[in-house]
Amino acid sequence: MTSSLVGDHIETLKPYVPGKPIEELQRELDVDNPIKLASNENPLGPSPKAVAAINQKLHALHYYPDGAAHRMVHAVADFHDIDPARIITGNGSDEVLTTAVRTFCDYGADSAVISEHSFSAYGIRCQAHNLQIRWVPMARGLNYDLDAMAEAVDETTKIVFVANPNNPTGTYVPADRLRRFLAGLPDHVVVVVDEAYHQYVQADDYQSALEMRDVHDRLLVTRTLSKIYGMAGVRAGYGIANPEMIDRMQRVREPFNSNSLAQVALPAALEDQEFVRESVEVNEAGRTALEAGLSELSEMGVGWVESETNFLLVKTPVEGKKIYDAMLHQGVIVRPTGGYGLPNYLRISLAQPEKMKRCIRALRSALKELAVTEES
Ligand SMILES: Cc1ncc(COP(=O)(O)O)c(C=O)c1O
Repeated sequence: MTSSLVGDHIETLKPYVPGKPIEELQRELDVDNPIKLASNENPLGPSPKAVAAINQKLHALHYYPDGAAHRMVHAVADFHDIDPARIITGNGSDEVLTTAVRTFCDYGADSAVISEHSFSAYGIRCQAHNLQIRWVPMARGLNYDLDAMAEAVDETTKIVFVANPNNPTGTYVPADRLRRFLAGLPDHVVVVVDEAYHQYVQADDYQSALEMRDVHDRLLVTRTLSKIYGMAGVRAGYGIANPEMIDRMQRVREPFNSNSLAQVALPAALEDQEFVRESVEVNEAGRTALEAGLSELSEMGVGWVESETNFLLVKTPVEGKKIYDAMLHQGVIVRPTGGYGLPNYLRISLAQPEKMKRCIRALRSALKELAVTEES
């Protein structure tokens, strides 16, 4: 008998399911002018300053990137006014999360605490590293239950993830609660606060965990270029932690994990705060338009969760995947959230009001096709 190829933790691992690319939909279905509202990308496109910087770099692509990502690290240091020794860059913030798990957690030995209905990469990375995962249910309103998460932590727990605000719910943890949670954790625990959607938050009682570095020493805050800076295709993100943590993560990361285009795009994008402001304005206009359209469908059992991000988690009267499939035929790609443990929802990225109106038309027609009546 041959021995098994992989351990059970790999055999049972469900791969990350990304939003459907527009080109894939075009290959599968003959639809006019499809729009993608599935991956929380910036509907304005990439930061123009970052694109200009990339154009300047194209002639030098035969060189390996700077392995230390010096320009990137220093741009982040200047932007946040912190010591460069506190920064690691990555192939998207996703890779920073992976490096954190590989660096801080003993393979097959430690445990991780993760909230249900949160970003799926956390569970995937921890399972791939054969960690014991403590899944913590959410509190009412699809909010993180930080008290329950603190209770799930014990001496085996090496890493805890908090997405603030969270994907796919769009909910956030107010500053005082996050601060209390961090203060109560044992020193040995690494807390990752993932701030991929930070710039979209409007709530007054939200605060970045970068302001809480004095509360818990083993804190890693991650940010990305993929969302508000519109650079998801470039793959650039970074993490901020204490110098000892960064030093150990630098030992583990891949040698050229920040590619040459990311290294010029990131400094330019961080300088493009005008683009960030414009993106927030478009996001708020999109929110108003989508919420208005969804309220018109409330008779059909449609609702949504209040969001501090660039997407809305929409409650559906029938399984979200069925509505998603029907909407594809209208050329509108949204995201079913069954994989996040939320089968009766869809996640819809915010975009310009006209795209939101098209999305509502597609949603209404999908509901009618699925025979959802006004009274249901
Ligand atoms: C909460 C959260 N963290 C991290 C990421 C990954 O971002 P990146 O493109 O930087 O890897 C995403 C992407 O959807 C996300 O939603």
